[in-house]
Amino acid sequence: MIYLLSVVSFAGLTTALAAMLMIAERLLINYGICKLDINAGEKPLEVEGGQTLLASLYANEIFIPSACGGKGTCGHCKITIISGGGPVLPTETPLLTRKEIRSNVRLACQVKIREDIYVRIPEDLLNVRMFTTTVEGSVVLTYDMKEIRLRLDDPPDISHRPGQYVQVQAPSPDGPVFRAYSISSPVYEPSIVQLVVRLVPGGVGSTYLHNVKPGDTVFFTGPYGEFWLSEDPSVEIICVGGGCGIAPIRNIVYTLYERWPDRACWLFFGCRATRDVFYLEEFEEMAKKHPNFHVVYALSDKLGEDEKWDGQTGFIHLSVDKYLEPGIRRQAFLCGPPLMIEAVTRVLKEKGTSDIFYDEF
Ligand SMILES: Cc1cc2nc3c(=O)[nH]c(=O)nc-3n(C[C@H](O)[C@H](O)[C@H](O)COP(=O)(O)OP(=O)(O)OC[C@H]3O[C@@H](n4cnc5c(N)ncnc54)[C@H](O)[C@@H]3O)c2cc1C
Ligand code: FES
Repeated sequence: MIYLLSVVSFAGLTTALAAMLMIAERLLINYGICKLDINAGEKPLEVEGGQTLLASLYANEIFIPSACGGKGTCGHCKITIISGGGPVLPTETPLLTRKEIRSNVRLACQVKIREDIYVRIPEDLLNVRMFTTTVEGSVVLTYDMKEIRLRLDDPPDISHRPGQYVQVQAPSPDGPVFRAYSISSPVYEPSIVQLVVRLVPGGVGSTYLHNVKPGDTVFFTGPYGEFWLSEDPSVEIICVGGGCGIAPIRNIVYTLYERWPDRACWLFFGCRATRDVFYLEEFEEMAKKHPNFHVVYALSDKLGEDEKWDGQTGFIHLSVDKYLEPGIRRQAFLCGPPLMIEAVTRVLKEKGTSDIFYDEF
C-alpha cells in the first residue's frame, strides 16, 4: 500500500512539475522574433518564437502534411532542419529512422522555434494551397462508407497526380484539426474533389464529413502524396485496396483509362463481407469497355447472408498470388491497413515487382 501511494505521489508530482514548466516557459520566456529561413533564402520569414515549427509554417500558409494534427503519431510532418532545431526529442525518435536522424530530418510538430532556424522543404510542398469548397452532394456507399463530392471555389481548380490526398479541416472542441483523405475523382476533373470516407466511431474528421450537407463550405489543403504513375504504357499497373483504400485506386484507374484505353491493369479489392462491397458494378462496367482491365473482389469473412457470392474468398494477397504471373514489368499501388500492405508487398516481391507505392490507413 505504501509502495502504491509513493508511486502515485511521484507520478502526480512529475506531471505537476512538467505542467508548471510548460506554463512558466509560456509566461516567462520570450524568444522574441526569430528568422525562419526556407531553402537557403528562397522564402525568408520572421516568426514569433515559442511556437512549433509546424504551427509557424501553417501561419505562413506553408501546409506540410500533418495527418495526426500535430500529436507526434503519424510521422507525416518530417522536414530537414539545417540548423537551429535543437536536439532530437524523445517524442520524435520512435518515428525517425537512424538514417533520418543522421540527415537532420525532424518532426515539425515537435520542434519548437527558440532561435533562428534554417530548414529545407521540397518544392512540391511549397506549392500546396488551402482550398475553399462547397459540398455538392454525398452518397451512402455502405453502412459505414460515404462518398462526398466537393466543388472547388477558391482556387477553382486543383492540379494533382492520381493517388494523392488532401487534408480536410474539421472543427473540434480544441480548434480546427486536419485529417488526410485520398482524392477518388480522376485528375481530368480538376474542379471536383471527391472523397470516400469511412466513419470511425467518435472520430473527429470522419464524423464531420459524414454529416456535411449540400451547400456547406469545406476547407482543405493539398495535394499531398508520393504516388507517381509510370508514363510507360507497357508497364502493367496493379492496384490493391482494402476499405476506404479504394479511393485513390478509383482515381488511378479512371485517370489511367482516359489516357491509355488499352493499358493492362489489375484491381484487387479486399472486403470482409458483401455488406462492405461497393463500386463493383462500376468497375465491372469499365472492364467491359477496357478488355485489359481486370477486377477481382475477395471476401475475407464470408457471412451466412453472403452465400450467393461467387467471387473470390480469403485475404486479398491470396488473390494477388493466384492471378498474377511472375516476371512481368509492373508498378503497384497499395492502399489500406498495414497488415494487408505487408502481405501484398511480400507476394509482389516474390513475383519480381519492386516498384511499389503504398499509403497505410
Ligand atoms: C495518406 C492517408 C490517406 C487517407 N485516406 C483516407 C480516405 O480516403 N478515406 C478515409 O476514410 N480515411 C482516410 N485516411 C484516414 C483518415 O485520415 C483518418 O485517420 C480517419 O478518418 C480517422 O480520423 P477521425 O478524425 O475520424 O478519427 P480520430 O478523431 O483521429 O480518432 C478517433 C478514435 O478512433 C481511432 N482511430 C483512428 N483512425 C482509425 C481507423 N482507421 N480505424 C479504427 N480506429 C481509428 C483513434 O485511435 C481514436 O481513438 C487516410 C489517412 C492517410 C494517412
Ligand atoms: S503531424 Fe503527425 S507526427 Fe507531426
